[in-house]
Amino acid sequence: MSARRVAVITGGANGLGRAAALRLAEEDREIAIWDWDAAAAKRTIAELNRHEAKALAVHVDVASPESLEAALTTTRDFLGPVDILVNAAAIIGVDASVLETPLEEWDRVLAVNLTGTYLASRLVVGGMAERGWGRIVNFTSGARHGTPALIPYAVSKAGIVPITRAFAREFTSRGVLVNAVQPGRALTNMVLSRVPEETVRNPPVAIGRYADPEEVAEVVAFLTSERNTYMSGGVVPVDGGG
Ligand SMILES: NC(=O)c1ccc[n+]([C@@H]2O[C@H](COP(=O)([O-])OP(=O)(O)OC[C@H]3O[C@@H](n4cnc5c(N)ncnc54)[C@H](O)[C@@H]3O)[C@@H](O)[C@H]2O)c1
Repeated sequence: MSARRVAVITGGANGLGRAAALRLAEEDREIAIWDWDAAAAKRTIAELNRHEAKALAVHVDVASPESLEAALTTTRDFLGPVDILVNAAAIIGVDASVLETPLEEWDRVLAVNLTGTYLASRLVVGGMAERGWGRIVNFTSGARHGTPALIPYAVSKAGIVPITRAFAREFTSRGVLVNAVQPGRALTNMVLSRVPEETVRNPPVAIGRYADPEEVAEVVAFLTSERNTYMSGGVVPVDGGG
């Protein structure tokens, strides 16, 4: 059994973030879901409560510093200081060629995926370092190597790697271990609408199937645990062999 600690999961209402929230609750963490999908967050909180986890949903836009600051205040008031941050919130954006990607789309995807991860991390890492213990897990993607038609998403996910390394470099010596996971393909809301039926039947993954969100959550649980004593600054693929 792990220590009672407070874990914030951005994007924890759905998909991989939701699975991480449920898995971290099994580690006896108290959970704050920071998500802008209030209806889904409510459902996930109900599920967490059924498992007797202490949990709180905060309506947040991770691209907004004010929204994040308000969420931290609410979380501290109800649960206490934040020990663990999982930055799962992201959007995929619209498919378009490089020349046709609207500038607003570029700005929106980078604001949520990249700036959101940076802002949320920046907000909580100082407190973790002061208390001498913290864990941060960011979400990158194989798309970081370049994906046709999703350039803002690819760029945002590439940027997660230097953010992860910079925070790790600066805060590991003060007890805050910072890593990224790189999921392969999981049939969450983000990908379901984009994957043709034939691909769903025949996934182009070495392991021959899509990931269950719980398989990614298991790695997040380890990286955020007391059992992780030496991993920081890494990018961990959870991609069924690619
Ligand atoms: N599903 C996959 O196969 C896959 C593969 C590689 C990487 N990832 C990464 O995993 C993470 C989770 O993705 P997912 O597949 O679970 O997606 P998802 O769409 O199911 O969940 C994303 C969550 O983020 C929330 N969100 C989006 N924008 C937000 C904002 N501005 N403020 C607050 N919350 C916001 C959504 O409401 C949603 O709950 C993402 O970072 C994604 O890039 C997913």
